[in-house]
Amino acid sequence: MDTKVITIEALDGAFSPREEQALQSAGAVLRQGGLVAFPTETVYGLGGDALNPASSRKIYAAKGRPSDNPLIVHIARMEDLSPIVKEVTAEARQIAEAFWPGPLTMILPKADKVPYETTGGLETVAVRMPSHPVAQKLILYGGGYVAAPSANLSGRPSPTTAKYVIEDMDGRIDMILDGGEGDIGLESTIADLTVSPPQILRPGYITQDMLTQVLGQVSVDRTILEADSGQAPRAPGMKYRHYAPQGELTIISGPGEQVTAYINTRAAEDRAAGHRVGVIGTDEALAQYRADIVRSLGSRQDEDSIARHLYSILREFDDEKVTRIYSECFEATGLGQAIMNRLLKAAGHKLIVLDGNRKP
Ligand code: TXA
Ligand code: MG
Repeated sequence: MDTKVITIEALDGAFSPREEQALQSAGAVLRQGGLVAFPTETVYGLGGDALNPASSRKIYAAKGRPSDNPLIVHIARMEDLSPIVKEVTAEARQIAEAFWPGPLTMILPKADKVPYETTGGLETVAVRMPSHPVAQKLILYGGGYVAAPSANLSGRPSPTTAKYVIEDMDGRIDMILDGGEGDIGLESTIADLTVSPPQILRPGYITQDMLTQVLGQVSVDRTILEADSGQAPRAPGMKYRHYAPQGELTIISGPGEQVTAYINTRAAEDRAAGHRVGVIGTDEALAQYRADIVRSLGSRQDEDSIARHLYSILREFDDEKVTRIYSECFEATGLGQAIMNRLLKAAGHKLIVLDGNRKP
């Protein structure tokens, strides 16, 4: 299949006539059952018509994703929520008002209209209204309901730029809309509203505190930070070893200087053994690392930057054929909960905690 790549810059916040036309034809591709990758404020999505079972099957095939892993339905208008769910509950209204459009997905019992192909056989449906203007326009032109997982091959980090979408999807889908780099860089927060109190199944930019302020009480699926809680995660997708770089990733936690010293020791050993070693650091410690490739997520003071750069660094290490990766560790509160969830999953939960009192 020949994959068309179209750049949508929306300079000065407005689409040019050429861009408007491109978005219309992308919408037509969706309505005819084709697949279009598009930018959102979180990561790039791989879109198909959410109400067309054949489109959802194509999405699974293009990603190489198990079909028991449900898709998120993207909408662009509040009035489009009620036709696809059993009931728009008070809680759904409250969090939609507070966080939509934006990086929040809610789970509700599904209406008959939504095919099981889209929900992976579940009686519930995940719905999100993205804020990215390209996503919004595409959804409207595409018929209002766009099923979109992240636009990566199953098992690879979610793409934060069109370059990575092309890497994974060229030849597998009809069209890719290149809208530059996303703001957030990690997938949306998923809140399950079918349980009481509502539960976070996947942490994201909308934090537990932010949801608690609106809903009162909110719990968190304990599998999101634990290696083996003996419990299956409630978001089916969270059970897979997602976000996995090709190199073996280990996270090092402890006092800053010890972390740097430990990483440098391990990196030297690995390189002597013929490995190509990458380090994921922060601005504060960057100059001290000795490895083949050293990258900064940004300043420790700037969590947004850390979230935004994580996946692109993991991808770059894949491109550079890095075989061992060491990363600094972050506090798992606020946005840090999402950062550590993704980092721990990428590392297959390999975490080394250095004792503050001992030499590594
Ligand atoms: O930010 C995002 O959410 C991106 C952009 C493209 O919008 N999309 C995304 O989709 O991350 P995906 O398919 O990569 O992740 C969807 C997650 C999976 O872990 C899936 O198991 C879970 O949502 N999910 C979807 N529907 C669900 C449901 N009905 N019940 C429980 N979990 C569900
Ligand atoms: Mg994904």
